[in-house]
Amino acid sequence: MNILLVGSGGREHSLAWKIVASPLVARLVCAPGNPGMAEIADVRPVSATDVPALVELAREIAADLVVIGPESAVAAGLADALAEAQIPCFGPTAMAGQLESSKAFTKAFCDRHGLPTAGYGVFEDAAAAETFLETLPAPYVIKADGLAAGKGVVIAPTLEEAKAAAVDMLGGRFGSAGARVVIEEFMEGEEVSLFALSDGHHAVLLGAAQDHKRAYDGDKGPNTGGMGTYSPAPILTSDLAQQAYEELISPAVGGMAAEGHPYVGVLYAGLMMTNDGPKLVEFNARFGDPECQVLMLRLESDLVPYLDACANGTLDQLPPPVWREDPAVCVVLAAEGYPDRPRAGGLIAGLDADLGEDVVVFHAGTERDAEGVLRAAGGRVLNVCARAPTLREAIARAYAAVARVDFAEGFHRSDIGWRALEREQ
Ligand code: AMP
Ligand code: GLY
Repeated sequence: MNILLVGSGGREHSLAWKIVASPLVARLVCAPGNPGMAEIADVRPVSATDVPALVELAREIAADLVVIGPESAVAAGLADALAEAQIPCFGPTAMAGQLESSKAFTKAFCDRHGLPTAGYGVFEDAAAAETFLETLPAPYVIKADGLAAGKGVVIAPTLEEAKAAAVDMLGGRFGSAGARVVIEEFMEGEEVSLFALSDGHHAVLLGAAQDHKRAYDGDKGPNTGGMGTYSPAPILTSDLAQQAYEELISPAVGGMAAEGHPYVGVLYAGLMMTNDGPKLVEFNARFGDPECQVLMLRLESDLVPYLDACANGTLDQLPPPVWREDPAVCVVLAAEGYPDRPRAGGLIAGLDADLGEDVVVFHAGTERDAEGVLRAAGGRVLNVCARAPTLREAIARAYAAVARVDFAEGFHRSDIGWRALEREQ
């Protein structure tokens, strides 16, 4: 098979790593890719949102399958354009992608299909939003409706701050993404990222991971795209995963099909593990980053038949994927200043050294300068991942590798996995 993989982050590098390991794959092309992906596949400088150029590239390489990484490509309608060109695609249409791109759509969808989630109201008018907030207990959850690069959510401890946040969003702080706000009941619990594959009509669970969203140790500092992950997520027992499948994943896939927008690709359910069971925080129309990295390290089965079956509507004909029991951990090395003002250009070295058994480093925001020297080019720069027979060993392996990577202008959290370790004790 010839495969075109769209995206350039650590998530996509880990997908590329797993895809090229498949004996089914003759050629993998990544657009735009990154220097890590360039070591294992062809890369082409085509942006993940340049839909006509991506369709053209898929034609040129006679792609049997296009795999969409980032939500930006989903929202740009890449899957729609590929369907028109009759090129099989792993990834949802823009309409199906509304499960991520519109929080108001998703809340109403949950109502229509009975998915457990926080109670809410949707507002375009500040006075009505303020009146609704007055009916809720603290703390308050206020969200911009549209895609706001993970920054459109405010958890406000007091009513004053909650009202100010709603007024601010409706006043244009997030542009059109904030023209509507969703106000939600606060859910108490631990968060888990659960993944499922869907071919539009059938869904298969793909495992779970836990992320660390705050920038600094002890869950302090600003929210980020994610500073590290581990999988499996011990809090999500197999019974709870089955419950989440039955109450959330299966009705989501069934509901989208019934509404005429079958969901194809990976469905990422952000769950809050409440005392009343798993409840939906949000859906994403893509793999998590860096959740994908630890899933790829643990997936024993060949990924490609599953991606292909999703694109072709034959997921029910495959056996469930096989997983390694061993836990996997990912530590994100970010550029100083991330997430607000990451410093670009920091030198990276040491990746060629022997970093240890079952250690893999994925590139995220890296680039090679004119001399071919590897430098930081983004907020999250490298993903140091490790697998081992126990979580404790996997963490130790990952941090031993981190210590050998030379990225002086970077930082990382040193407590990835703390919740799971605490749970073991
Ligand atoms: P979202 O972009 O919807 O995933 O929200 C970002 C983060 O805000 C989530 O990962 C949660 O940590 C938190 N959050 C969102 N909605 C709620 C809620 N209803 N109750 C508690 N925490 C929430
Ligand atoms: N790591 C969280 C996300 O990908 O949204």
